[in-house]
This record gives sequence, C-alpha cells and structure tokens, in this order.
Amino acid sequence: MKITTMLFVLYGRQAAAFSTRMARTAGVVSRPMATAVDGEATQHEESITKMPDMEDIVSLCKRRGIIFPSSEIYNGFAGFYDYGPLGAELKKNIKEAWWKNFVTQREDVVGVDSSIIHNPTTWKSSGHLDGFSDPMVDCKETKLRFRADQIFYAPVILEENGERVGYVCVQEGNDETMVKDAKKQAKALLKEKDMKGSKIEAFAFKEVVEATEEEMAEIPSPASGKPTLTMPRDFNLMFETRVGAAVDSDNIAYLRPETAQGIFINFKNVLGSSRQKIPFGIAQIGKAFRNEITPRNFIFRSREFEQMEVEYFIPPGDDVWPEFHQKWMDDSKDFLLSLGLREDLMGWDVHEGDGLAHYARACTDITFKFPFGEQELMGIAARGNYDLTQHTEGSGKTLDYFDDQTKEKYIPHCIEPSLGVDRLALAIICSAYAEDEIGGEKRNFLKFSPKIAPIKAVVLPLLKNKEALVSTARDIFEKLQQRYNVAWDATGAIGRRYRRADEVGVPFCITVDFETIEDDAGVTIRDRDSTEQIRVPLDEVIPYLSKAIDGY
Ligand code: GAP
Repeated sequence: MKITTMLFVLYGRQAAAFSTRMARTAGVVSRPMATAVDGEATQHEESITKMPDMEDIVSLCKRRGIIFPSSEIYNGFAGFYDYGPLGAELKKNIKEAWWKNFVTQREDVVGVDSSIIHNPTTWKSSGHLDGFSDPMVDCKETKLRFRADQIFYAPVILEENGERVGYVCVQEGNDETMVKDAKKQAKALLKEKDMKGSKIEAFAFKEVVEATEEEMAEIPSPASGKPTLTMPRDFNLMFETRVGAAVDSDNIAYLRPETAQGIFINFKNVLGSSRQKIPFGIAQIGKAFRNEITPRNFIFRSREFEQMEVEYFIPPGDDVWPEFHQKWMDDSKDFLLSLGLREDLMGWDVHEGDGLAHYARACTDITFKFPFGEQELMGIAARGNYDLTQHTEGSGKTLDYFDDQTKEKYIPHCIEPSLGVDRLALAIICSAYAEDEIGGEKRNFLKFSPKIAPIKAVVLPLLKNKEALVSTARDIFEKLQQRYNVAWDATGAIGRRYRRADEVGVPFCITVDFETIEDDAGVTIRDRDSTEQIRVPLDEVIPYLSKAIDGY
C-alpha cells in the first residue's frame, strides 16, 4: 500500500490531428473543413486532461448511466455496484480487449470459464480458508468496523518540550486529507487540555496494526473520537454459502475470492486437451467475491468484482522466472496504455520483505494515481509452484508436467498477472476525464480510446424533418449496428448533439447533410478530441471506423 502526495495539477496536453491521420491511413480523401457543416466553432483550444475528484467521478457515472449504487431503491448495499447501459458496454469492451490481447492473439495462452463455486477443499488447499484475512478493529461504541491497515495513528507532540499530549487517528486518504483531519483532531485535543495555540511537531503516522495495547488505550476511534477501538484481529474475507437443501456444516461452500484457483484445478484438464507445451498460460475472466471489511472508494474496492487473470506456467529454476516476469510486466503495461490509461498516472510498486507472500519469488504492482491516492491497479506475481503443489497434496492427483524434450517431470512454476476489471474501468474513467474550450465555450468530455468507448459513433441527420437526410442516415446507422454499438441522434441543434456525444465519450460523430444526398459527397466524420471534420465517401465509412477502432 502506498500513500503518496497527489498531484492536483492539470496534466499533459494531448493535441490530436487524429482524424486527418486516420483518414490518410485509411485511404480516405480527407478534407479538413474550413467551415464546419453545422456552425460548430472551429476555434479549438487544446484539451486538458484533468484529475477529477471522486465526487465528480461518482456523480458523472450516475448521471451518464455508467455505474449506479446497487439496489439503490432500497438505499443501496455497501460494497456492491450495478453497471448502467454505458458501463456495461465499457466493461464488455475492456474484457474483450484483454481477451483478444492475451488469449486470441497469442498461441501460448488458452482460456477457461470455471464455476464460481468450487469443491470447498479447493480453498483449504490454496490456503484461503486459513489465511485469506485482513486485520480489523472494531469501535466498541459505534459498532463500526475498520481495516486495521487502513487507519493511521500519530502521537501529538509539543514542539517546545517534546511532550506527548495524546494521539490522533485518521482513515487512509491522500496526504493532504489525512493531515487536514489530524490537525483538526489535534486542535480539539489541545483545547481540551487548555493548551490552545501550542505548536506541535509534524505527524508521524503508523498503521493501527502496529499499535501496542498501551497505545491503543489512548488512540481515539475515528468513529467515536474516544479510545474505543479493540486490538486488531483477523477477519476472513471469504463469502460463505450453502449448497443443497440440508442445513449443516457439511454443505458450506464459498464464492470464489479470485479466479486463479479455477485455473489451477483445471491444469491437467487443459494440458490433456489443448496440446499446449510449457511455457503456456491459462486465462480466465470472471466474478470474484470478497467480504471486504471496509469497501471503499467506489468500485476500487468492492465486495463483488471481476478479475482477468492468467496463470503462465514455466519450468522451475531460479534463473528461469525473472525473464518471464519482466515480459509479463512489460506486456501488461503496454496493454494498459493501449486502452488509453495515462502513463503519467501509472507507477510500479515492487513488493519486498513482509509485503511478499512466503512462497512468492516476486510481486510487482502496477499502480495508478486515483483521486484518493496512488494504489494498486494490478499485480504481476512470480508464484513459484505453490498452488499446483498445494492442490497435488490436497487432491492426491499429481499436477505435474512431463517435458518430452528433456525427459524431466516437474511441477511447473507460474507467473500470475492479475487485473481487476472494475478497478481498471475506474482508472480508464479518471484517464478520460477532460475539458477544453471550443470557440471560448468550456467543454467537459470523456476521452475514451475508440477501442473501449461504450458508443463508437453517433449518426446524425442534419435535419430530422427531411426524409432524404433521415433515410440515408438511418441506412448508415443500421449498417454500423451490425458491427458496433452506435447511437442515433436526430433532435436538437447539431452543436448540442455533438456536445451530448462528447459528454459520454463517443469518438466519432457521423453527419448526413445536403452534400451527402445532393452531391453524393459522402458524410462528415467529426473527431471528438480535435473536433476536426473530414468528408468520407459512404463506402469508406466502415473501413475508416474499423481502422480507428480495431486497428485494421
Ligand atoms: N490471484 C491473485 C489475486 O487475486 P489480488 O491482489 O488480491 O491478487 C488482484 O487481486 C486484482 O484484483 C487487484 O490488483 C485488483 O485489480 C483486483 N481486486 C482485488 N480486490 C478487489 C476488490 N475488493 N474490489 C475491486 N477489485 C479488486
């Protein structure tokens, strides 16, 4: 976990002569328009991709139909979210792009789709039943529960004589919010002790998991403001369920907390049926469930989420894994960049010492600077042969591999890139959040890459009451629908229609005007980011979009 100072500044300028570039590559006769068809101001300021705060993101997602709180009509349900029309498309596109990149376009990776509920012994063998827990503390007064590694305490020490007058305790956030909260508590503490105005030293925060019993007796609960926290204890994150009609402990099963184990337990099945040879990988996308103590930060940490994981099996040996691990780190970063993630917000976090599971050779996270701080986006672990060994022991079936070249038999080691769909969706939305000015008027828009944009194009007849315009536009729309999720918009001034499309991140607006029907001059395609318009012949519209969206 990392707490870093957030850079609340306006980031990079990414001017785009995208449409002109695309037109050239697609072989389309491009004619940037001096005067746009519709009177949209052509004077366009470069866009600024700006870091929104979380309230902006949550409210934008609700307004635009991307993400809603789950069961909202019943006041929601903490840690669960529903994806609306645009969110469902966004998620589907993210998963399709991942699958295409890491499964379809590779010869050494195949996919599985395992059940969510496995034989419960799976979780005994994998270690989840005994060890998949987070430390928690309870507030005895408010009955609220916190993750002990997410609340931080610090002594309040007088500058003049080094005397400790008490403690402050705050929830994890970015540096700025934590210090602000701590200062407020310290001020109240000094007032209570008749020391108002005394100067204090800078706060030295520690996780509450590190607190001694003596310290805990003085540390105020973030909920009650009094020392009412219990000592930390472990809380297992597995969701229990029951299978079958009987109500006894024999039929307890678990919703999977990760997709990875569904891969390991199918290792022999895939090996025996797919003609893969090591090194090779098995991929899976699917739901995972964790009874998180404090689900927080919107879809960043929820109780039901989706994962995209690969277990890439490699030969054993201490000199073998580093190269594979590095390659998966590089490929993962390239993939994230290809979806439009902002590189200036991405980082690496190498786990060392206590941060590394005892069986793991290495684990490196790709981090992202979310509005609430820099946090893990995905992990790339070198897991040794821990899981296959555990399942061999637990099941009595040997999950080994015979190398017919070297005639060696061994339990393969593996590299595991593991990425959350929801967490990635949040990073994509943060990366896409942009504003600029067109003809002096402010525009807020989402700069989704065409590959993952929920709506790829909107088709606009210039006037809704001219039959010839509408029927030509409708024809284009219906053709595009065969391939892409496209929208139809025939109402309102065309400038307003462009703006509506920009707000939900539609990369292309296709306008049918009088030149289309009278001069057979094709349509105009307007690029969302540059607002440039070019004329494209009707039979070039699909090749043009295909090049921009699919890359070919
Ligand atoms: N099989 C390895 C594994 O599950 P993890 O670090 O616990 O490792 C992998 O999870 C990824 O799954 C994380 O990097 C994150 O993207 C996503 N993830 C984990 N817990 C999550 C949660 N509660 N809500 C949303 N995404 C989560």
